Amino acid sequence: MGVGQSTTQFFKGKKIAVTGASGTLGRSLLHQLHGQGAVLTALTSRSQSIEIEADGDSTAIATVTWRVGEESALADLLTEIDILVLNHGVNVYGDRTPAAIEKSYEVNAFSSWRLLELFLTTVNEGNAQKKEVWVNTSEAESNPALSPLYELSKRTLGDLVTLRRLDAPCPIRKIILGPFKSELNPVGIMDGMQVARKVVAQAAKNRHNIIVTINPLTFVTFPLKELFVSGYFQLFSKS
Ligand SMILES: NC(=O)c1ccc[n+]([C@@H]2O[C@H](COP(=O)([O-])OP(=O)(O)OC[C@H]3O[C@@H](n4cnc5c(N)ncnc54)[C@H](OP(=O)(O)O)[C@@H]3O)[C@@H](O)[C@H]2O)c1
Repeated sequence: MGVGQSTTQFFKGKKIAVTGASGTLGRSLLHQLHGQGAVLTALTSRSQSIEIEADGDSTAIATVTWRVGEESALADLLTEIDILVLNHGVNVYGDRTPAAIEKSYEVNAFSSWRLLELFLTTVNEGNAQKKEVWVNTSEAESNPALSPLYELSKRTLGDLVTLRRLDAPCPIRKIILGPFKSELNPVGIMDGMQVARKVVAQAAKNRHNIIVTINPLTFVTFPLKELFVSGYFQLFSKS
């Protein structure tokens, strides 16, 4: 069976919600998942509805507006969702003010962690087989990103995911990406749509760490970091 066929079988009819939906990767993921027959919800911090271009037409995606700090308002919605994709993120670049520290941690780390916890409360014996979470951290988890607060906040999120994976009632996939062109990274080299296509294909193959990058070092540094941090957390924490 070809990769395309098995990917479609994996996603067809699945109810998938994506945060950061108006951004480059958010839109690209929605586009790819739409093509695989998923039933989509766009989660955005903007007031506009999200539309994607599919088959030459503009397709409206069911859109829900949310705000960092008001994650609990999504509780009812998340009970209906099979796959939650935590993709929103911000880069304050060289800023190191208290406001930049707060923004980086709130947006990149704590809002995703709160949504993750909220989603895990919706998992039960009856639905655990089809529920999963994808968390878009970054290869900044294990490599420099030339942006200290981006690295700090994404590493915090990555480590929290590593910790919670030890007891999670459903799969939590990490998405580890290298530089792609977007508002967050205008000098990114990869193309968002190509990145999204590879992410979706790897998720369908049940990869728990989905790595898409042009940096060969990440394929060494990230698995090593994940192995050691996970082992350390297992040794020195309890379920
Ligand atoms: N571009 C790269 O090189 C790269 C590399 C590795 C990882 N990543 C990660 O990939 C994800 C998507 O980034 P992107 O490159 O596609 O950037 P992007 O186009 O700037 O999209 C990021 C989206 O995050 C949401 N967001 C930003 N600030 C927010 C806030 N204060 N509250 C809630 N949502 C907020 C916005 O979506 P809404 O307006 O829809 O809420 C925004 O469009 C991020 O987590 C990023 O860290 C990017």
